[in-house]
Amino acid sequence: MSKIRNKIYIETYGCQMNFADTELVMGILKNQGYELAKEIDDANVILLNTCSIRDNAEQKIYSRLEHLRGNKRRKPGTVVGILGCMAERLRKNLIEEKKIVDLVVGPDEYRRLPEFIDSAFGGEKGIGVKLSRTETYDDIIPHREDGLNAWISVMRGCDKFCTFCVVPFTRGRERSRSLGTIIEEIKQLSARGFREVTLLGQNVNSYSDNENDFADLLAASAKVDDSIRIRFTTSHPQDLSDKLLYTIAEHPNICNYIHLPVQSGSNRILELMNRTYTIEHYLNLIDKARATIPGVSFSTDIIAGFPGETIEDHFMTLEVIQKVRYDGAFMFKYSPREGTKAFDMIDDVSEEVKAKRLNDIIDLQHKISFEINQSEIGTEKIILVEGSSKKSDDFLAGRTDTNKITVFPKNDEIAVGDYVKVKINRATSATLFADFLETVIPLNEKLIARR
Ligand code: SAH
Ligand code: SF4
Ligand code: F3S
Repeated sequence: MSKIRNKIYIETYGCQMNFADTELVMGILKNQGYELAKEIDDANVILLNTCSIRDNAEQKIYSRLEHLRGNKRRKPGTVVGILGCMAERLRKNLIEEKKIVDLVVGPDEYRRLPEFIDSAFGGEKGIGVKLSRTETYDDIIPHREDGLNAWISVMRGCDKFCTFCVVPFTRGRERSRSLGTIIEEIKQLSARGFREVTLLGQNVNSYSDNENDFADLLAASAKVDDSIRIRFTTSHPQDLSDKLLYTIAEHPNICNYIHLPVQSGSNRILELMNRTYTIEHYLNLIDKARATIPGVSFSTDIIAGFPGETIEDHFMTLEVIQKVRYDGAFMFKYSPREGTKAFDMIDDVSEEVKAKRLNDIIDLQHKISFEINQSEIGTEKIILVEGSSKKSDDFLAGRTDTNKITVFPKNDEIAVGDYVKVKINRATSATLFADFLETVIPLNEKLIARR
């Protein structure tokens, strides 16, 4: 009797940590002899790696599940599984309420996935949602396609308990990988021709492997290969140390870009959110970073319409955006999440007012991004070339050190993975346009071989 080859297809939703987890899951499954399907129709195991951060993230998964009924009808016996934060938050309810779901596996139980998949083929529904204080998957080699950018989760979980946020409940307590294995992974990425590594954690500043803190990890990562750019996210304003700022300033290949979520401009709201800093502390930090790291740019996250937010609080948020002048921002309407502290506060800002405030915030941020980008015209930038521009094959696109998409004409001298110097000649709020000046770093051999 021939053994059926199981072919897995994974769709990923949510934050970069989920994308990194999908690569871990693929690593685990490949080790066990599973094959990965390129097309969903070739798969007999369909896994959705999900996000719970806001209600609309979960609604997207419910409609995806409706759609997958068709796949199951066309190919009976197909296994459908939910991974990630929704698996952790909703647990057996997902299996009870959505008959199409065969397995539910949370972020700390991925090692057991092969076991759950096998039982699902035997007709048994499987649930693995225990959170762990120690699991970091430190020994698992993630499955990564060749490319330029790699994400590495250096820590898991979050201990901050911001009152609006599900992450501490879906990802559990903070724990870090060891510096040694992370550096080893970056060495392998360097040998494969990767050019950018993003170190990930919900709060990377609290990284600690008992000997090294996050600044140590950044410095060690930067030293592996000076043609690899190092990025990191997310920094919490409470824990961003002077040592970290000096480390960023010291290493040319650590990007001058800090994602520093402020959430609100009002101290009263920050306290209700349990963010543990004041606006004065936050602005002071921005000043210090600007003094320490010339040319540093910032992005942020903002929530509009948190419980109890008055129009004055909202104006304070607009004011902080104006004071900092962020290069970019992720902006959201508050979404109540069951089980969080804020869920018990009265969600008293109407949907209409939330939408209006969010629009004010988006409009202001767009205006600032546009002005900042206009001021870049005439300056020279170093770009990592990532591929053709989205809009035209006659143009290449890449990003500056400060994470801005830059587009310039294609030219035979330039290949994907090169660093090039360009001069900005035009800008919108989202994109810089430039003329090519010169290639600045010779290609490494791996990339030449891949051309
Ligand atoms: N760990 C990161 C971000 C985690 S989630 C940090 O601390 O900044 C990404 C962003 O989603 C948050 O920064 C916040 O702005 C937003 N967010 C989280 N929970 C939310 C909720 N219940 N409603 C709306 N936005 C939320
Ligand atoms: Fe959520 Fe706050 Fe942790 Fe970020 S720091 S993941 S917002 S609890
Ligand atoms: Fe979403 Fe979970 Fe990330 S809730 S934002 S996928 S940690």
